[in-house]
Amino acid sequence: MTNTILGISAFYHDSSAAILVDGKIIAAAQEERFTRIKHDYNFPFNAINFVLEFAQINLSKVDHVVFYEKPFLKFERLLETYVASSPRGFKQFMISMPIWLKDKLFQKKILLDNLKTYDKNFDKEKILFSEHHMSHAASAFFASPFNDAIILTADGVGEWATTTVAIGNGNKLNIQKEIHYPHSLGLLYSAFTYYAGFRVNSGEYKLMGLAPYGTPKYKEIIENILVNLNEDGSFWTNQKYFNYSTGLEMINSNFEKLFGRKRRAPEKEKIEQFHMDIAASIQSFTEETMIKIVRSLKNEFKIDNLCLAGGVALNCVANGKILKEKIFNNIWIQPAAGDAGGALGATLAVWHNHLAKPRVIDSKLKDSMNGSYLGPEFNQEDIEKRLKDIGATFEVLNEDSLIEKTAIALSEGKASGWFQGRMEFGPRALGNRSILGDPRNHEMQKNLNLKVKFRESFRPFAPSILKEDCGEWFDLESISPYMLFVANVKKEKKITVKNEEKNLFGIEKLNLIRSLVPAITHVDYSARIQTVHEDTNKIYYKLLQKFKKITGCPILINTSFNVRGEPIVNTPEDAFKCFMGNDLDVLVIGSCYLKKENQNPELIKNYKNEFKLD
Ligand SMILES: [Fe+2]
Repeated sequence: MTNTILGISAFYHDSSAAILVDGKIIAAAQEERFTRIKHDYNFPFNAINFVLEFAQINLSKVDHVVFYEKPFLKFERLLETYVASSPRGFKQFMISMPIWLKDKLFQKKILLDNLKTYDKNFDKEKILFSEHHMSHAASAFFASPFNDAIILTADGVGEWATTTVAIGNGNKLNIQKEIHYPHSLGLLYSAFTYYAGFRVNSGEYKLMGLAPYGTPKYKEIIENILVNLNEDGSFWTNQKYFNYSTGLEMINSNFEKLFGRKRRAPEKEKIEQFHMDIAASIQSFTEETMIKIVRSLKNEFKIDNLCLAGGVALNCVANGKILKEKIFNNIWIQPAAGDAGGALGATLAVWHNHLAKPRVIDSKLKDSMNGSYLGPEFNQEDIEKRLKDIGATFEVLNEDSLIEKTAIALSEGKASGWFQGRMEFGPRALGNRSILGDPRNHEMQKNLNLKVKFRESFRPFAPSILKEDCGEWFDLESISPYMLFVANVKKEKKITVKNEEKNLFGIEKLNLIRSLVPAITHVDYSARIQTVHEDTNKIYYKLLQKFKKITGCPILINTSFNVRGEPIVNTPEDAFKCFMGNDLDVLVIGSCYLKKENQNPELIKNYKNEFKLD
């Protein structure tokens, strides 16, 4: 008899659902992709429908439903924090508590009520709760290719833990130590994200992208005043400067006084050198802390494999630095490292920890994520029907012609939407719901940002590269299938710009041609790399091969298929709508090839302001 476990993450941000059948990861998706509301935190009805349908099972036949965290422990943490900081925390208490009492404290009942809409006899005994960081740790270890590993999870906060260390061996995973709220590397980074005028929980990438423009001038202040960092990487944050446990904002006026300026008002104030130096300082501090932690863990546990998860593990610059230090032989990071991945981790925790089922590891270096292609897919017949229904004009090509035509268009500087197979699980597009471009083309960076993504970005785009060619172009010795490691462009591919840079400021620096692939090279010569593998994404691999054959360059720009503020496209209709609303030249969906100039001009939409700023 098969055993099916449904995992749910919800009510905070990035709700999602995942399904595990006999220990095998079958499907997972974020709710935002269906509702088109970025970071949607509502109960993931659509994602649950999708995973159940994909696994061809009714909820009544599911053996366990597991929620990714324990609401009661979280409530206890909030309550204790308010009591401890009373009366300072009273204001937030009064605002938060009615919401908690109504929606969160009774999550088991809400879960049950919602699950009963699928199956009115759903047995409440089937509902289990995993702990937040156990869910993260399980998503990192049980999905990894390692038989044994040290697992480090770090995020804002779960119930109480903000950082945990676990040891995994076979089907066993045990948390060994924890750092508790309010001391949190994730919240510290978010506090600086907020201070620089970006949105918490989504603007952290921007801060990371801004860091290479600055110098870490303020790192000493962070080290000496804000945080007490021990040699083993454990840390304590000075709450005199933060407001997240007592107020509704991340920082207080002491923090602003410490750095000598008020928080940047994003609508009114431009990003200045000061903000870039702030970004560089917290980024450098985060890297140093992460390296200290993992170095001390290696010394303590003497295990060669490291797994990472939790929001901090999405800091791919820090990940790249850890890799470069060569502290571990192998590092594997869960691609859905944020809370969406908690749904998946919770199912794996039930299967291995709760049910004590053995673990089957595919082969030495292959994980069980299916390239993170775990979302919905559409067959060719369905795609053609959907495209016809919305009035699209397209031709259907065989695979060879499709690849050739797309590769030629890309080499001519055309921006192309590329929609194939199953949607990615996690924040990155990995070649199935991607916008592609030619990285050699210097104008591409600007054009894609302004005309396709509608954003004025100081971030360059990320490259996809044929796995076999990675070592020739980048200083990266290991694979990076999930775009979670940053490494430098190889010396031979660089173009030196020393003298020209002197009088340039901020984004102007990005306009200098620094390498043979300028559109994916950051101002510090780094790039956020995706290695593309034949066994997980054959058609994308072939496209890269063809592009290389035409141009000599085995790299494409790969950015997520969406515009600013929009979730990544899920359906062919989403893709077509986005294509008709921006300056993409070409759209490929399955075997269908669409040119912008052939479309009915009446279908062109003003898309620019449909989504809120990040
Ligand atoms: Fe988390």
